[in-house]
Amino acid sequence: MDKISKNNNITWFDGYVSRKDRERLHGHKGGLIWFTGLSASGKSTIAHLVEKELHRRGCSTYVFDGDNVRHGLCSDLTFRREDRIENVRRIGEMVKLFVDAGMIVLTAFISPYRQDRQKVRSLLEDGQFLEVYVECPSEVCATRDQKGIYAKAKAGVIKEFTGISAPYEAPENPDIVIHSYKEDASQAARRVIKLIEQYKLIK
Ligand code: ADX
Repeated sequence: MDKISKNNNITWFDGYVSRKDRERLHGHKGGLIWFTGLSASGKSTIAHLVEKELHRRGCSTYVFDGDNVRHGLCSDLTFRREDRIENVRRIGEMVKLFVDAGMIVLTAFISPYRQDRQKVRSLLEDGQFLEVYVECPSEVCATRDQKGIYAKAKAGVIKEFTGISAPYEAPENPDIVIHSYKEDASQAARRVIKLIEQYKLIK
């Protein structure tokens, strides 16, 4: 059914091929695996390992991460609170379309605010959004940081840095917690794959 927007001048057209049709073609459901955690906590590394395994199993996948998206779609945004909110909002709307395309999307954004992540969850159906909290103390993240960004943040050269001078709101009810300071990335990726199986996104 067509949805009419608030201003009544644009309508949403569903097309002739449904998400279910596309999912049938892909051989799996569409879904969003949302990794959240501090910079250098291991989100991207684990997301890419999960994608590698899903791809090996013949799934249609894509990984979005902060550094890449901020080069293009969100290159106009800073790290101020309102811009981070807008960053996650845009990404949420974008990945919703990818899920509608029947793909399994993995995202690796700090996404520091609980409410913003909740809003993304509410864009999707139950079981289509899995929140993966990659927990790692900022002191450990700082030791892994190849960009030297934590040192700059501590020196005050970079302002509003998550975990140092800007807040990070840990998920209260994530679908899975990865303790990346003591858990190997491959093992973590296997646990995420199990979760994806449990939610029946894949067989
Ligand atoms: S988010 O907070 O808006 O979700 P996002 O995931 O897109 O952040 O971007 C994080 C990337 O930007 C990380 O790779 C990090 O190193 C870099 N970065 C640069 N400045 C900051 C900052 N002030 N706070 C956090 N990350 C920053």
